[in-house]
Amino acid sequence: MSSSFKSSGQVSYELRGDVAVMTVSNAPVNALSLAIRQDLVACIKQFEEDDVAKAAVIVGAGKVFIAGADIREFKRPATEPHLPDVIDGIEACSKPVIAAIHGVALGGGLEVALGCHFRVGVKGAKVGLPEVHLGIIPGAGGTQRLPRLAGYEKALEMIPSGVPIGADAAKAAGILDDVSDEADAVAAGLVFARSVIDNGTPLRRCSELVAPAVDAQVFADAKAAVAKRARGQKSPVVCVEAIEVASQTSFADGMAKEREMFMELKNSAQHRALAHAFFADRALGKLPEIEGIAPRALKSIGVIGGGTMGAGIATGALMNGLAVTLIERDDEALGRAKATIAKNVGGAVKKGKLSAEQEQRIFAEALSLSTDYASLSEVDLVVEAVFEDIDVKKQVFEKLDEVCKEGAVLATNTSYLDVNAIAAVTKRPQDVIGLHFFSPAHIMKLLEVVVADKTAPDVIVTGFQLGKIMRKVAVRAGVCDGFIGNRILATYRAAADAIVVDGSTPFEVDEVMLEFGFPMGPYAVADLAGLDIGWATRKRKAPTRDPRERYFTFADRMCEQGWFGQKTSKGYYVYEEGARKGTPNPAVLDILTEERKEKQINAQNLSKEQILDRYMAAMVNEAAKVVEEGIALRPLDVDMTLIYGYGFPRWRGGPMQYADEIGLEKILSNIKAYAQEDAYFWQPAKLLEELVASGRTFADLNAESGNNSAAKK
Ligand code: CAA
Ligand code: NAI
Repeated sequence: MSSSFKSSGQVSYELRGDVAVMTVSNAPVNALSLAIRQDLVACIKQFEEDDVAKAAVIVGAGKVFIAGADIREFKRPATEPHLPDVIDGIEACSKPVIAAIHGVALGGGLEVALGCHFRVGVKGAKVGLPEVHLGIIPGAGGTQRLPRLAGYEKALEMIPSGVPIGADAAKAAGILDDVSDEADAVAAGLVFARSVIDNGTPLRRCSELVAPAVDAQVFADAKAAVAKRARGQKSPVVCVEAIEVASQTSFADGMAKEREMFMELKNSAQHRALAHAFFADRALGKLPEIEGIAPRALKSIGVIGGGTMGAGIATGALMNGLAVTLIERDDEALGRAKATIAKNVGGAVKKGKLSAEQEQRIFAEALSLSTDYASLSEVDLVVEAVFEDIDVKKQVFEKLDEVCKEGAVLATNTSYLDVNAIAAVTKRPQDVIGLHFFSPAHIMKLLEVVVADKTAPDVIVTGFQLGKIMRKVAVRAGVCDGFIGNRILATYRAAADAIVVDGSTPFEVDEVMLEFGFPMGPYAVADLAGLDIGWATRKRKAPTRDPRERYFTFADRMCEQGWFGQKTSKGYYVYEEGARKGTPNPAVLDILTEERKEKQINAQNLSKEQILDRYMAAMVNEAAKVVEEGIALRPLDVDMTLIYGYGFPRWRGGPMQYADEIGLEKILSNIKAYAQEDAYFWQPAKLLEELVASGRTFADLNAESGNNSAAKK
């Protein structure tokens, strides 16, 4: 027997005295590819036959133990050896096998560890079964071994939530046998192996353990709670069901049932959507225009305007360690801004997101308030969040151009205005960019990084860097009215208004969208945002409105009565004092009846499916135009914008992924049918027509962009 054996490449086998060390090596996260599975089988066989080796240690090379199955392989038919069989082979081994974990052991990675007879972690290691986030359940024994090892309650806590736990918590739960002080996993594994060999510790196989029984009600309660949170996503509920199976049957039967459940979810639209979202998240910042370019320095920022957005942006920056200088028009406004920031920061402390010391440091050191623009002379980046008025914004940028240091990034938080026009008033348009935050800015995840014609690449990178520091999801957008998100929103809101005027009610539309998976329907959202905002915009745009556009008056009439939504306790819904959820306002239906009468519209009763089809067709069509014009670089950028900024259910993957699932041909033919009624609104996007003609999908476009790792083979 040679003391050093190398398998086909991805798992090495090396003897250290009488211990075999198997190192899983598949950068960057040691995903369990076919080659790894084959190698593990070969290494275990080698170990069984190796007379010198008394114990084996499995470790991961690089920064983690094993991050799970290779998600990219899920698109292809499963190939033997299947992971559950590989893990059964490890567990069946007649000599001790120890998993030595550093970094993370996730999904199939933890399942490999659960197949070992012992598990040791180094400090800082984390273990978890996050499959639920991919719309699947653990498919290699996780739902059957974990409850047997750590109990049903722990399994019900970890598997449906998918949240990993740290080494100490894992030891307390019995998942790890020890947390080692050794610096690396190999050393930790070797020490543990020595003690197992020397003490003759009997092998402990999870499949043979019996978890303390629990009342069946525990599963019923867990299912109800999980279903409520999941809002249409299947996998969390199936996770509970799979754990329940462990309490009802033998290990072998449980494994067979788990496999069945896993395979069904693996072939579902929800899994495809969530896997798409996983890779899209990682593709967002991969842009050819900034590849290899470093960000500018970013330690301190200025914020102009301390209203709704400015105070929120300042809060988010302060909570993430940046120094902030906030500028307002007068001391009174500064006082209001400071009070808002204090309330926001106080809220974060209460929720345990920030310590009292951090809170104290923010107000003692990190936040400066001023009415003097000269205080911005040393900041690295400024975000302007003053009124949405191009003249006011231009004045602000002229001042910034005078006072800011060379190389400072000058950003506007405008929702709709032309970033090129704002940049043009400065002598440094290359330093100007749009950074469009969403309200409440210290909480909402999305940040649109709006690239103007002359924005320099390192300014774009700095925009993404600010997003990273503030823990946002940054999406690159181009300049147009509303950028990616608000532009698409305006279109699907217009489609909703047409649906409503033509015969449905706002409450039906809201119900359909809630059932689809949005947290709120569009009319409930309008009440929350304030109906006066849209009213002001409509008045502003009235002179330039295209005469071919259908114009609806019901929302204006509501505003004329002083119904601005939640802030006036009345809008589409009526709100009891202090309540955030309202009941339908019946007077809205009278206003709609009036409008239909005036316009001689025969109310048509659309089914829920018809409402959904129109709403989604409008969203997808505008989204396709946004991609076609290069406002969004790829369909995936639209998907993530709608998911992180507009409540689109992640488990549907965003509008483009949804459209691919429905079929682009069907969407296009719907649009053409609707165009018979309103040819101006329902102009099909050229891109949609092209894709249908060439038999391609939005996913193909993502793949063609070369930056989406999901598409990599
Ligand atoms: N399969 C394939 N690729 C993966 C992967 C996986 N399981 N996990 C990560 N990657 C890829 C990422 O796509 C990324 O690729 P690109 O560089 O091409 O974009 C690269 O690995 C690095 O990933 P991150 O950027 O996420 O790196 P990070 O250091 O921020 O995070 C991590 C590392 C915590 C492991 C994170 O990648 C992660 O959470 N991965 C997914 C874990 C997971 O969901 N595991 C369950 C898989 S399903 C399963 O195991 C089913 C089963 O029961 C058999
Ligand atoms: P706001 O009215 O709440 O706050 C604006 C603040 O700017 C006020 O406190 C005002 O005193 C201050 N201000 C005005 N002129 C100033 C000047 N010259 N110098 C210093 N301060 C000045 O408005 P809000 O909602 O915060 O919006 C700000 C910007 O953010 C707008 O461009 C808006 O379109 C955009 N935005 C708003 C969102 C929202 O949901 N409210 C979401 C995303 C962007």
